[in-house]
Amino acid sequence: MSKPYVIRVSSQKGGVGKTTASVNLAMAMSLAGSKVLLIDADFINPSVGIHLGIEGANTGVRAVLLGKSTLEGSVVRHNPSGLDVLPGEIVSRPHNPTVAQMQRLFKQVFKSTYNFVIMDTPPGFFPDEEFGNFGEAIIVTTPEMSSCVSAVRLANDYDRSHLKHGLVVNKFRNKGYELHINEMEEMYDGTILAVLPDSEIVPIGVSERIPAYLMNRRAPFSSAIGQLAEKYITKMGFEFQAKKSNGLLARIAAAFRLLFGRG
Ligand SMILES: Nc1ncnc2c1ncn2[C@@H]1O[C@H](COP(=O)(O)OP(=O)(O)O)[C@@H](O)[C@H]1O
Ligand SMILES: [Mg+2]
Repeated sequence: MSKPYVIRVSSQKGGVGKTTASVNLAMAMSLAGSKVLLIDADFINPSVGIHLGIEGANTGVRAVLLGKSTLEGSVVRHNPSGLDVLPGEIVSRPHNPTVAQMQRLFKQVFKSTYNFVIMDTPPGFFPDEEFGNFGEAIIVTTPEMSSCVSAVRLANDYDRSHLKHGLVVNKFRNKGYELHINEMEEMYDGTILAVLPDSEIVPIGVSERIPAYLMNRRAPFSSAIGQLAEKYITKMGFEFQAKKSNGLLARIAAAFRLLFGRG
């Protein structure tokens, strides 16, 4: 059995869509038949739970870091998708884990049977000692100069750490005032893994606690996420099961929420 493949979703700049990309990618991979663990490692602003409607969970990554609970005992199952989640905790004082605590977490991650571990992270560069140097990093950027310049800086940091990385462009509107895909490719000097369109279904999904990918698989945002999921799954030698689940349960739940309030 091989170790889980860790994908760290990162950016130098805040608000570019790390959590959105993490949640939807993890969901797409899980719905395509992979065993996926999504870790909210944004210890400063944990928000994975909000996207998934599990913000009330009284367990999470903090308990594992502190050795108060095991990974297995702290994982929350997102039932509509089968995705396992290690949520963050919204606490008054953010918890900055020590190197030893992160090692405790990774030790358990690598003993698990997951195929993929997706980590949502805070903005910025985190050296190897803290976040490990495993798998690869996704760098999320928007098609703006300030965001791209930051993304390039992060890419240089990863190069120095010998951590593999790929660029995901998010909130793309295809407008003349935005950076062109070719310009971003040139600045980044590497592969663009995916271009995710700016889409209303993202904020709607957050407000309904149903991630965009689950809400509407045919939307352009979702198909771009699906293609990214397929890329990783096939790259690691797993089978991409396109029709494993249609998210029907989640859509019914969403309809109920719309009809009868937020519950
Ligand atoms: N592709 C998208 N289309 C529309 N809105 C988006 C998209 N991606 C992210 N957003 C919105 O941008 C904001 C920041 O996204 P978020 O994923 O929380 O960023 P980060 O985790 O990098 O801080 C949120 O309000 C989110 O709904
Ligand atoms: Mg975030």
